[in-house]
Amino acid sequence: MQIVVLDSARDIARQVSAILLSQVRAKPDSVLGFATGSSPIETYRLLIEAHRAGEADFSRVTTFNLDEYCSLPQDDPHSYYAFMKTQLFAPAGFDYGRVHFLSGLAEDHEAICRAYRAEIAQCGGIDVQLLGIGRNGHIGFNEPSDRFSDGPFMVELAQSTLDANARFFENGTPPRFALTMGVGDILAAKKILLIATGDSKAKAISAMVHGPVTPQCPASALQNHPDVTVFLDRAAARLL
Ligand code: GLP
Repeated sequence: MQIVVLDSARDIARQVSAILLSQVRAKPDSVLGFATGSSPIETYRLLIEAHRAGEADFSRVTTFNLDEYCSLPQDDPHSYYAFMKTQLFAPAGFDYGRVHFLSGLAEDHEAICRAYRAEIAQCGGIDVQLLGIGRNGHIGFNEPSDRFSDGPFMVELAQSTLDANARFFENGTPPRFALTMGVGDILAAKKILLIATGDSKAKAISAMVHGPVTPQCPASALQNHPDVTVFLDRAAARLL
């Protein structure tokens, strides 16, 4: 795991967006794995800027998002689909025909999960996967548990995750269930970039980097991947 500690979220976004931009320039039909949450927003802003300046063309990029809440339609403003549409896909000129999402509304979620995994494989796998990390060490929505998940699955969110994400919901209550790529899907990406900022992530980062590889800290599985770069500000790196 390569650890990069920078002064600000802005500096992190500059480096992460530069990696994504050079990936897309080298391979215009790249397959990118995207994450939601606050951590990647500044990176997405810089990708949008590059597109508007005519320096980047995302129209041939295929995307897979990590996770989605159950019971929210895609046009619900709280859905992760809506988040990605506003924060990146629409303003950066992505082709919606190449955007892939787990559908939280599906009745047969097991079939949806199997199909998602098959679609990733059909597209040749994910070239670069962007990640944030939860305060409890979750990646995507893989919550601490007794075993690492392999493929996509439906998960009941931990109370600490519901509390952390309540800020995005006017009624303070996110859906209790979500669909997420499994840890196995994440580890199958060729390259992984993880962003974490702020004091509230310091413990999870320390467990991810120095702790044992355990499903109690799902991010610790990244220790077994050959190409992971972790971008931190000083607060998130405080316990390293
Ligand atoms: C959510 C998402 C994760 C994300 C995490 C951290 O629960 N499902 O993919 O990494 O929160 O979010 P933030 O970047 O807002 O701290």
